[in-house]
Formats: sequence, C-alpha cells, structure tokens
Amino acid sequence: MKKILVTGGTGYIGSHTVVELIQAGYETVVVDNLSNSKTGALEGIEKITGIKPSFECIDLCDKSSLDHLLSKHKDIVAAIHFAACKAVGESVQQPLKYYRNNFTSLINLLELMSQQAIEYLVFSSSCTVYGQPEKLPVTEQAPIQPATSPYGNTKQVCETIIRDTIAASTIKSIALRYFNPIGAHASALIGELPVGVPNNLVPFITQTAIGIREQLSVFGNDYNTPDGSCIRDYIHVVDLAKAHVTAVERLINKNNKNSFEIFNLGTGKGVSVLELIRTFEKVSGVKLNYKITGRRAGDTEQVWADTSFANRELGWKAQSTLEETLLSAWKWEQYYKETGGWK
Ligand code: NAD
Ligand code: WQD
Repeated sequence: MKKILVTGGTGYIGSHTVVELIQAGYETVVVDNLSNSKTGALEGIEKITGIKPSFECIDLCDKSSLDHLLSKHKDIVAAIHFAACKAVGESVQQPLKYYRNNFTSLINLLELMSQQAIEYLVFSSSCTVYGQPEKLPVTEQAPIQPATSPYGNTKQVCETIIRDTIAASTIKSIALRYFNPIGAHASALIGELPVGVPNNLVPFITQTAIGIREQLSVFGNDYNTPDGSCIRDYIHVVDLAKAHVTAVERLINKNNKNSFEIFNLGTGKGVSVLELIRTFEKVSGVKLNYKITGRRAGDTEQVWADTSFANRELGWKAQSTLEETLLSAWKWEQYYKETGGWK
C-alpha cells in the first residue's frame, strides 16, 4: 500500500480527498494543526471508509515536528499539500498571518521532501490567480493577473516557489487550480465547516435555509452578465477530491509530461448567483430569504474554467450535476444540525 502525506487533511477538501485516497487503496498520513478544522472529520472518514487514518496534530510552520513525523514514515511516496489559511477578507486584515503561514508551511515541506527524498507534490492552487480573465472560459495559459488580496498573492508566489524548487531538485509537482468547490460527501458524514459567518455563497445559503442566518445578500445584480449577478464555476468537492487521486497517480506512475504541471479543476460551466439560488430552492424545497445588495469589493464579474487540458491529460472530468452538488451541501447542513455538530 503506497503511503501519501496529506497536509490540511482534516479540512474541507483534504478530508474528502483522504476518503478517495483510502477508497483507491492508498494509506494516508494526515497532518493538520486544527486551526480551521476538527477531528470530527477523522471520525467521518472512518465511518465512510472503515479506516481511521493516521493523524498528527502538527503545525507545518514547526519544521522539527514535521521532520520528526517524516522520519517515522520513511515510506511516504508523495505529499498533497492542502494546509493553508484561505479567507480572502481576513488576508487583507492580517496579511502577515497569510504570508507567514502559507509560505513557511510550503517551504518547510519542500525542504523536508528534498531531505527525505519524497519526490512528488500535489499543490492546492486557485482560480483566483486569473483575476478577471479577458477570455472565457479561462485556460491554464491565461496570464496571471496582479493578486487582489494577500491570500491570492500567496497562491501565485507558492506556484513560483514550487517551480523554482523543482528546477533545482528532483521534486515533481502538479498544481491544481480549483474553481469554486462546494457540496459535501453523499453520506453527509463530512463537509465544509465554516467558522463564524460564512464568506462563501453556498454555506451562507444552507445556513440561511436552516435558520442560522436570517437573510442572504446577493452581492450585485448590475454586472454585465445575462441576469446581472456574478458567474462562477461551482465544482462538487468529491469530483475535486477524485482529481487529486488522479494527479498523485500521474506523478507516482511517471505519466507526467513536465516536472511541473498545472491543471484547472472546474466543471467548465458558468452559473450565476441567481441561477444557483433557484437551483438550491428547487432541490431543497426551501424558499430562500434573500435580497439584492451592492457589489462586494474585489469580486470578479465572471469566471469559469476551460477544463479540456485536465479532461484530456488527466483523463478526469467533473461528473456531478449542480442539483446533486447543492443537495449534498443541504444534506450536510441538516445532518450537522441534527447531530449537534463536531466537537
Ligand atoms: P480548510 O481550511 O478547510 O483546510 C485547510 C486545512 O489546513 C485546515 O484544516 C487547517 O486547520 C489546516 N492548516 C492551515 N495552516 C496549517 C499549518 N500551518 N499547519 C497544519 N495545518 C494547517 O480549507 P479548504 O477549503 O479545504 O482548502 C484547502 C486548500 O485549497 C487550501 O490551500 C486553499 O487555499 C485551497 N483552495 C480552496 C478553495 C476553496 O474555495 N475552498 C479554492 C481554491 C483553493
Ligand atoms: C461566489 C459568488 C459573490 C456570498 C472565493 C475566493 C477564491 C476561492 C473560492 C480560494 C460571488 C456571491 C457570495 C454571499 C453573494 N477560494 N456571494 N452573497 O468569491 O468566487 O471565491 O472562494 O482560493 O479565492 O475569493 O466565492 O463563494 O465567496 O462567492 O452574492 O453572501 O457569490 O459575490 O459572485 P468567490 P464566494
């Protein structure tokens, strides 16, 4: 059984990926400092897969602890690096927190990978690197735009750090640029766990539908889009998780064509905020209390992925419909309420 290190593995996308890795026959070593997640994710993973993954509560900024862990697991063949701070607004308020955490954790990991001869890295990047692209759908070749937040900047610089490190080492990497991950595992045993008031649309919708929030604000209906609201590419987190298994296998089986490859992960379909609300109302049967408010500063008008490179090269394609995806998010919200949530 090949062993994979999953940093940030108790987080939203990490926990779904651990499930897919276990189900594909891999052994996982999960590392997380629980700064934005709970160990309930590990119990959820165990209920789904029958296997409780090995877990270490380690801050990746603490290099000696990570070194110690990797020395205990000399047979790790690859790392999937999810661990990062990810709140755009918070990054504007506390830029140094983002630069310290997202850079230090990646640098420590890369240094130790080189030392321990771990050759393969899958990195979580983001469509935020494209800003508002000139051409849609956006391909991996589109120019990187100046970042609109320190968070976005960390993703751009982390891609550069990886590219430069690869040029000077034996490490090979795939960076996956996620569009908008939403939804939860079909079992409703794991899902997204927003701390405080959600910034992202779908958790805000499900929390409004269940009564935690009174009203959803739709940030603008005066954009240059068919219904005036912003357009995004919403991808089911399980489809996204599966792409990580495909990417890590591409590296392990030496099917990669370059030592650093970058893939868009989206559905290839743009959906407006108002369309998404209507679809949510249809699948949940709940009438959503929402009002149109002003635009949110820094929002991109419209972006969706050209996924043809990932479809062709990785042999991966998002499978879930928007209806299935939103239903899974709604089931997770209900399950979380019914069970009283993770401790
Ligand atoms: P998440 O916050 O749920 O998961 C990240 C995990 O990393 C958390 O469990 C957190 O506790 C952990 N972590 C953070 N800093 C750490 C450190 N120094 N040491 C150890 N653990 C640490 O976020 P997510 O949505 O699962 O995102 C995973 C990755 O994908 C992140 O790199 C994020 O930037 C990226 N990404 C997310 C989205 C999105 O919309 N969710 C979109 C594009 C890219
Ligand atoms: C989606 C749409 C909002 C909340 C962010 C990060 C990005 C990436 C994914 C990590 C937008 C609208 C939202 C609300 C609304 N993360 N909206 N009312 O902004 O596309 O991307 O998460 O890399 O970097 O910026 O996602 O879910 O916040 O917003 O109308 O209460 O929903 O204006 O059009 P976004 P989001």
